[in-house]
Amino acid sequence: PAAREIARDAAETVSALSLRNRPRRNRKAEWSRRLVREHVLTTDDLIWPLFIVEGDSRRDEIGSMPGVERLGIDEIVREAERAAALGIPALGLFPYTDHALRDARGSEALNAQNLVCRAVRAVKQAVPGIGLITDVALDPYTSHGHDGLLTEDGRILNDETVAVLVEQALIQAEAGADIIAPSDMMDGRVAAIREGLDKAGFLDVQIMSYAAKYASAFYGPFRDALGTTLIGDKRTYQMDSSNDSEAIREVALDLDEGADMVMVKPGLPYLDVIRRVKDSFDVPTFAYQVSGEYAMIQAAALNGWIDGEKAMLESLIAFKRAGADGVFTYFAPRVAEQLKRG
Ligand code: PBG
Repeated sequence: PAAREIARDAAETVSALSLRNRPRRNRKAEWSRRLVREHVLTTDDLIWPLFIVEGDSRRDEIGSMPGVERLGIDEIVREAERAAALGIPALGLFPYTDHALRDARGSEALNAQNLVCRAVRAVKQAVPGIGLITDVALDPYTSHGHDGLLTEDGRILNDETVAVLVEQALIQAEAGADIIAPSDMMDGRVAAIREGLDKAGFLDVQIMSYAAKYASAFYGPFRDALGTTLIGDKRTYQMDSSNDSEAIREVALDLDEGADMVMVKPGLPYLDVIRRVKDSFDVPTFAYQVSGEYAMIQAAALNGWIDGEKAMLESLIAFKRAGADGVFTYFAPRVAEQLKRG
């Protein structure tokens, strides 16, 4: 009885509220929620990063990225066909280089027959309509795991590295890469790569620069995927996570140097940076939902702690809300399949 009285009192109080605005009205039914929806995620927003490994019909699991595998080139081609059928516009390709081929200078990056180049040629031949994005940086090829050339006393040489990166970019363009994506964070690399591409006649090869790339703990599983053991850290070239105005400067420089598209990386912890970049420059702006972000969602989902499908979609719409035009995500095929099912 006491409870019933309290409820009646409460109902009277509520009906006494004469609210002009009741935001909940628009949320009252699914059709209405759909009607007022502000942002949508579509398959056109997805870039699918794939890991390549030597060996046919090979699919190796990656311990820290459940659901993601390293794939032999024939398997990459199969996944590219699947991506095209799903409507995914572009793939990012990352090689797991044999340890025997890694050295201090990352020489294998300049081998026109390296894994990435062979994968690019194979996919281009089988699935010509899909965009291929290749990473320019030395870390998959160096014994020390750095993106650039390392001196004996542990410094990364900027200008000498840029010269190598230009050559790496040209080899990738020669193989058929559509977008060159420098992820190394050396100063001046975009201008040098643009000049190199243009001189070699690759006027239409785009540059998507990892413009605001932070030194991040969230890249851990990626290094596992590539078999990289990093000596030291990347803080003399990747950005400090405490900064955001510096990201604006980095993006301004890359655009000035000829970048066609820019990227902010990692993703969810840096949504504020995506928004600032988009508002400041209004150019095609991409985000990278990196390996550690993927791993966190997967780990929680596999433990039954969160609903994985919902968390995946919620994490991706966040990028759209922040102003991103597209997202590199290991969830790409799963999302595309979800969106297709409707
Ligand atoms: C290499 C590179 C990294 C990633 C993409 N390109 C790692 C790093 O800079 O250490 C990370 C991607 C991911 O974590 O998913 N320059």
